[in-house]
Amino acid sequence: MPEQLTVYNPATGEAIESIPQQTAEDVEKAIERSHKAFQSWSKTSAGERASLLKKWYELIVENKEELAELITKENGKPYEEAVGEVLYGAGYIEWFAEEAKRIYGRTVPAPTTGKRIVVTRQAVGPVAAITPWNFPNAMITRKAAPALAAGCTFIIKPAEDTPLSAYALARLAFEAGIPEDVLQVVIGDGAEIGNVFTSSPKIRKITFTGSTPVGKILMKNSADTVKHMSMELGGHAPLIVDEDADLDLAVAQTMASKFRNAGQTCVCANRLIVHESVKDEFAKKLSEEAAKLKVGNGLEKGVNVGPVINKKGFDKIVGQINDAVEKGAKVLTGGTYDQNDEKGCYFVTPTVLSNVDTSMNIMHEETFGPVAPIVTFSDIDEAIKLANDTPFGLAAYFFTENYRRGIYISEQLEYGIIGWNDGGPSAVQAPFGGMKESGIGREGGTEGIEPYLETKYMSIGL
Ligand code: SIN
Repeated sequence: MPEQLTVYNPATGEAIESIPQQTAEDVEKAIERSHKAFQSWSKTSAGERASLLKKWYELIVENKEELAELITKENGKPYEEAVGEVLYGAGYIEWFAEEAKRIYGRTVPAPTTGKRIVVTRQAVGPVAAITPWNFPNAMITRKAAPALAAGCTFIIKPAEDTPLSAYALARLAFEAGIPEDVLQVVIGDGAEIGNVFTSSPKIRKITFTGSTPVGKILMKNSADTVKHMSMELGGHAPLIVDEDADLDLAVAQTMASKFRNAGQTCVCANRLIVHESVKDEFAKKLSEEAAKLKVGNGLEKGVNVGPVINKKGFDKIVGQINDAVEKGAKVLTGGTYDQNDEKGCYFVTPTVLSNVDTSMNIMHEETFGPVAPIVTFSDIDEAIKLANDTPFGLAAYFFTENYRRGIYISEQLEYGIIGWNDGGPSAVQAPFGGMKESGIGREGGTEGIEPYLETKYMSIGL
């Protein structure tokens, strides 16, 4: 492993910065510091933690332009979208600064009059977080804020493609007064650092956002030390457009869901399941809108879709398009790409495919790219069956103006997040997370602090 990690701009191939990498021994030392700091941080008052988090939130908002530019440089997403990510991410800090003050216990009627039962909550201990490149900022704050609010110390291992946002956030946390050993960042070989985290008895919780296969490895490797786990894993979101949908709304919301971050989100609509009676009109409108999107460097004005993160991601997207076309899919718009292996820059034109069927890989694998495949249905139960026919269960969307049908569909879908006439359900106030192989635990909302808390009860004899 080279001692320095060079971070490149995926839109230009230019080196942004080189930073030192940590070895396994460095990470072990970071865990020791985290363990020691936990003894004092967990004993601070909720009000003290809340005001430090509030200050961190304010500094992030004050520095939103710089943080957003850094996101665009290392991740590639358009600048305006990056500003949105910074504010979305900061919102979690503001939210959990307030939730810190609402960690309640309870008293329980005891089995005899000679006893009292008191239930309290306390921080789980030092937490290790492994965070993804697709939201280099917000996926850190969504985990760090509830952890710190609960009284846990926190070590972040950001993605190798986008570590700079993690360091920028940490610097602002220290400026806000959060002690350096309470929030640490380590970078280096992912598998090696993952093993140090999972095997350490001092790390009491792992929180991870990333692929399902890596999540499974982390869970297996954590078994020997029986850790708390939060897993926000892959998705394969269906988006159902029913016969009575408001088509203009459905198109606008599909655009927002599908092409945000060049289609590189876990909650992106991945399979468009459209009633046969409205398919032609929906497909035409969606293709027209997709064709208007400007692809390029996210720092340039007017760009809506940036590069895909790297060659691995690009090969998967192009592989899915080619496989679908070979098996009979029709390209309504897009289907082209710009590949520069020398610079490491990969752009995919927003693509809409029709005549898609379940023999195609795109119907079974998460795409993580700007490709919208359309399949049709004639009966709503057929659409629901198709929607649920996956090991994933993160987000699902549907469009109908009929409330009886809407309630029915929402109750049948095996997903943790449901967007009904809404392509952007993510919100600081709501419990984000998936069912089945999309993960365990929820982030955000009142639920978001729970995974960082232990329950303890005292049975007091009188
Ligand atoms: C993700 O893709 O992992 C997060 C997306 C979101 O928070 O909306």
